[in-house]
Amino acid sequence: MPDYDSVDFFTDQSLVGDPYPYYDHLRSKCPVLKTSMYDVVAVTGYEEASIVFKNNDIYSSAIAVGGPFPPLPFTPEGSDISEQLEEHRDSMIMSEHMVTMDPPQHARARSLLNRLLTPSRLKHNEEFMWRLADQQLEEFLARDECEFLGAYANPFSMLVIADLLGVPEEDHEKFRLVLASNHEGSRVGSLEGELLAHNPLAWLDDKFSTYITERRHEPRGDVLTALAQGKYPDGSTPEVSEVVRSATFLFAAGQHTTTKMLTSAVRVLAEHPDIQQRLRDEPARIPAFIEEILRMESPVKSAFRLAKKDTTLGEVDIPAGSVVMVCPGGMNRDPRHFENPHEIQIDRPNVREHLAFGRGVHSCPGGPLARVEGKVTVQRMLDRMADIRIDDDKHGPAEARAFTYEPTFILRGLTELHITFTPVA
Ligand code: HEM
Repeated sequence: MPDYDSVDFFTDQSLVGDPYPYYDHLRSKCPVLKTSMYDVVAVTGYEEASIVFKNNDIYSSAIAVGGPFPPLPFTPEGSDISEQLEEHRDSMIMSEHMVTMDPPQHARARSLLNRLLTPSRLKHNEEFMWRLADQQLEEFLARDECEFLGAYANPFSMLVIADLLGVPEEDHEKFRLVLASNHEGSRVGSLEGELLAHNPLAWLDDKFSTYITERRHEPRGDVLTALAQGKYPDGSTPEVSEVVRSATFLFAAGQHTTTKMLTSAVRVLAEHPDIQQRLRDEPARIPAFIEEILRMESPVKSAFRLAKKDTTLGEVDIPAGSVVMVCPGGMNRDPRHFENPHEIQIDRPNVREHLAFGRGVHSCPGGPLARVEGKVTVQRMLDRMADIRIDDDKHGPAEARAFTYEPTFILRGLTELHITFTPVA
């Protein structure tokens, strides 16, 4: 066991496979703990994390994604660094994205998403998901085995976002090749002349700039037109680049997070024939199962905030300028909030109180979508596959499984998941 007091959460690979004992250790010392790692304050307590998420006046999102990396472009001075922060904000990474903005600018940026996430749009998107799930399963069902991320989870979660944004279906295959191929080198060649392999995000930017510009000139009555014609709450028209940014950011925020949730769900199903059977008998329990997966294996491992003012949290003094790390995987296993937190229980009464989607003004706008993606995927897999199991040849026998998780402090998820199954005719 590593020495948890000196281990570096940000770089130590020994914490990647199973970070939960480390979170327990931090919480046992204090749910709000000043660590020796880059002076980061780690929050692993449920109540304390909820306060951080909700209090934007004290806790700024300016460093939401990178935390202590790169360091602040200024040296914090005094008990309130709000002015210093505003002076330097534009030079901080991802400052153009809503996730790093604070109110009131944040509300303006987020308002552009409102046209996409209407009940009727989400309903159409769900219809697309059922079709897509079937199409994707058809591709490999007859093989009796697959690597689930490449064969299903990556393309599925990406194409759901493409559909939400109204990307025409004839362009979907191209999106899949650029944004969800596990074998980029071999497949990208088929897209001659397009800017891609090296920078899929530049390709995406380019594509959406064209969609939005075209629709501003020639409205077509489709979802992209609605997006192109969106206005800020004050009635002003956003620049094309601002609309493009809010659209393309959805891929960055929503694809890999959802892939990780789907993969964790399938790993648990394949490891627990009893849960698999229960969900086959009672499909109405699938949404609760997905919630428990989000609680147990929260795909976002850490979200960061910058304390703008001197404050106190959980009786710990936090000076202005401190980097605060909220750990969904830690707070979602806080025994003060969730009984027997390390046990998977699909009947857990308070499961929907998990914080896997964050809280407050930045809480995930894609949460409802991800939940439906989980439901549709699990339902269709149970319908079309009997007897889903982990592939012992690839991951070793049940008593000695070998799984590899992505070596990052931001997301929690497997790098691959090989399963076997019996196709249902
Ligand atoms: C299981 C899947 C997902 C998880 C666990 C997840 C988790 C999160 C979390 C924790 C945040 C808050 C970050 C913070 O407070 O600093 C967030 C924000 C965000 N998520 Fe998700 N997310 C998921 C799927 C999606 C999907 C499918 C989309 C879009 C289609 C999406 C779009 C966004 C956006 C745009 C933000 C920024 C919101 C803001 O700053 O106001 N997410 N997500």
